[in-house]
Amino acid sequence: MMKINFSQFGQTLIDEDDKLGLIPLISNLSELNIWEHENIIDGRRWALNKRVLNHYEIFDIDFLLLLHKKMFGKVWKWAGELRKSDKNIGCDYTQIRVELKKLCDDSQYWLKNNIYSIQQIALIFHHKLVKIHLFSNGNGRHARLVCDCIIKKYSDSKNNIKKINWRANEIDSTTELRKKYVEALRQADKGDYNELFKMFLN
Ligand SMILES: Nc1ncnc2c1ncn2[C@@H]1O[C@H](COP(=O)(O)OP(=O)(O)OP(=O)(O)O)[C@@H](O)[C@H]1O
Ligand SMILES: [Mg+2]
Repeated sequence: MMKINFSQFGQTLIDEDDKLGLIPLISNLSELNIWEHENIIDGRRWALNKRVLNHYEIFDIDFLLLLHKKMFGKVWKWAGELRKSDKNIGCDYTQIRVELKKLCDDSQYWLKNNIYSIQQIALIFHHKLVKIHLFSNGNGRHARLVCDCIIKKYSDSKNNIKKINWRANEIDSTTELRKKYVEALRQADKGDYNELFKMFLN
């Protein structure tokens, strides 16, 4: 059985059951990263296509699951499935559906009533997704892509909403930026979005 140490600051710890769902034959973490990276490129291409964005509601459980499957389905058998156990991050696994339904309803309300800007809604939705922690792994990358989808879906030539610059290579690894990002998420966990907005809104 492959032994891979998945520990990184602010990461879900992957348990032995989840590791059994690995599809490709790999022997170390850097090979896993490459497989995931390739798969995510496909998922990104699919999701950021205007036709796909026009077709799907984003604040919707079926879309969120399908997107995870598109991003990780070639690597993990459980891609696109809600997690079935508790992790070091996230709500009680039995509550995921209920929490997600509430979040999607709230977000639609914010959108319809212009409670926040689109960028703010995208960032708040991203944070609340990772806080609920839908999946056994891939939650951060999934939620950041969801954020990009929201901005693209609701952008037009008049409102010119700026994309979030995630600086993906740095945020995925053990850098100062990563530490700042996780710290900002912890503040957001307490209801304070100032740091997260300061980092990513322009
Ligand atoms: N205290 C926290 N509160 C809310 N979200 C958190 C917290 N700590 C970490 N996170 C989020 O959880 C993500 C890690 O979850 P997971 O390992 O499932 O995602 P990933 O896509 O595999 O990894 P990553 O995005 O970290 O490279 C982080 O990217 C971050 O978005
Ligand atoms: Mg992870």
